[in-house]
Amino acid sequence: MWPKDVGIRALEVYFPAQYVEQTDLEAFDGVSAGKYTIGLGQSRMGFCNDREDINSLCLTVTQRLLERHGIEPREIGRLEVGTETIIDKSKSVKSVLMQLFEPYGCTDIEGADTTNACYGGTAALFNAVSWVESSSWDGRFALVVAADSAVYAEGSARPTGGAGAIAILVGPEAPLVFDRGLRASCMRHAYDFYKPDLRSLYPVVDGKLSIKCYLSALDSCYQVYCDKVQKKGGDKQPVTLASFDAFLFHSPYCKLVQKSFSRLAFVDFLNAPKDQALEERYKDAARFHAAKLEDTYFDRDIEKAFMQLSKADFERKTRPSLLIANQVGNMYTPSVYSGLVSLLISKPIGELAGNKIGVFSYGSGLCSSMYSLTVTRDTQDGSGLSKIIAALSYVKPQLEGRHCVSPADYTRVLTLREENCHVVPFTPESSIDDLFPGTYYLVQIDEKYRRTYKRV
Ligand code: ACO
Repeated sequence: MWPKDVGIRALEVYFPAQYVEQTDLEAFDGVSAGKYTIGLGQSRMGFCNDREDINSLCLTVTQRLLERHGIEPREIGRLEVGTETIIDKSKSVKSVLMQLFEPYGCTDIEGADTTNACYGGTAALFNAVSWVESSSWDGRFALVVAADSAVYAEGSARPTGGAGAIAILVGPEAPLVFDRGLRASCMRHAYDFYKPDLRSLYPVVDGKLSIKCYLSALDSCYQVYCDKVQKKGGDKQPVTLASFDAFLFHSPYCKLVQKSFSRLAFVDFLNAPKDQALEERYKDAARFHAAKLEDTYFDRDIEKAFMQLSKADFERKTRPSLLIANQVGNMYTPSVYSGLVSLLISKPIGELAGNKIGVFSYGSGLCSSMYSLTVTRDTQDGSGLSKIIAALSYVKPQLEGRHCVSPADYTRVLTLREENCHVVPFTPESSIDDLFPGTYYLVQIDEKYRRTYKRV
């Protein structure tokens, strides 16, 4: 017998206390005004200085979740990390997080790290869900941590950076339940974005190819997801965007998410039998009926038509999930889950009750999956859902409480990080005064590359 309603019991998000204004970055980079803010849909970009690294990000978000939700270390039976920010290579970040558990005598905790670009968090989450549903489950919670520092070399990709972390507590009788048997994946070999130079902080990225890969993976996952729902449910109505109350996407930049939403509308349109209401709805686009999905990734006419046709739905179903993505940028592995946090804090609880939430997770290289969550209908005070939402009340004030750094200073921070990438011993220089309370920070890297941390 499977445990009932396996899903998300708690969420904690963390982003650094400083950001660059994208309008300032446009001027600094000498690109036309509006390119990053309107063209990419980004307002601010969070980043780490030399006080924070992947270990500190994960320590911060994990400890904050445990404290905020009153979870004891002994209640965690599985802990794993999804990240593409690699420092100790063979040594997992999960093993670093054990510093939070060992002092309590808790070392019987399964799990290690998972890496594939922005997808590692989802792979870790699937592992966690599978563990709770397996014969190895011992009744404790699983904790999934996804974190990254996303930085690009100078040039067109730099404004699509970001940084942050998320912790997701997984267990039975959850208010956000994973729909069983409804996962669709698309996994392929592609060199769209990867990090082959281990001396460098930066990825090798083929921007245009990465967009094509993202969109083709989206098409594929959506088709497979729709087929799986049909097979599972018998002769019910086919799945379309109308089947979802909200749709979350991995967000490299918000404009791509809007394009992705319209892409699903386009797939619905191609799938719709000629005599259906959908046909009526999309009648202005009738001339695109013969189009083949794989020929249309950069088709401006189709993109424009379906962005327009799906605009109202996008505003309702996806825009609320882009708050953190717009304010922090691409956090890589946490990105799509920051979308869940943004959604939960952007709508009244009554509007979330019983919702069906579609989720699309993408990591270059490439791994991608689509699945769905069902929100509980129990919205009373003290219910699991109301607790999750109440515990996230810090997010908006903290987004506003960050301090703005000039693009020149941001560039200096990155240059220093480039120079010190493999320098040991190393003592960071940035002040710890502006860190949010409860943030772990790097104290030192010794001559054997061993890192030590303290907490504000
Ligand atoms: N006002 C309004 N819009 C503008 C302006 C302006 N002044 N100037 C340009 N734009 C628009 C462009 O028309 C374009 O819109 P479109 O996408 O609808 O065509 C958009 O701004 C971006 O401009 P481009 O010239 O296409 O941008 P560029 O090629 O310089 O870089 C890119 C964009 C490829 C996304 C780059 O930032 C990048 O490589 N990022 C990293 C890779 C990435 O994020 N890939 C996504 C999936 S993979 C992943 O998650 C990492």
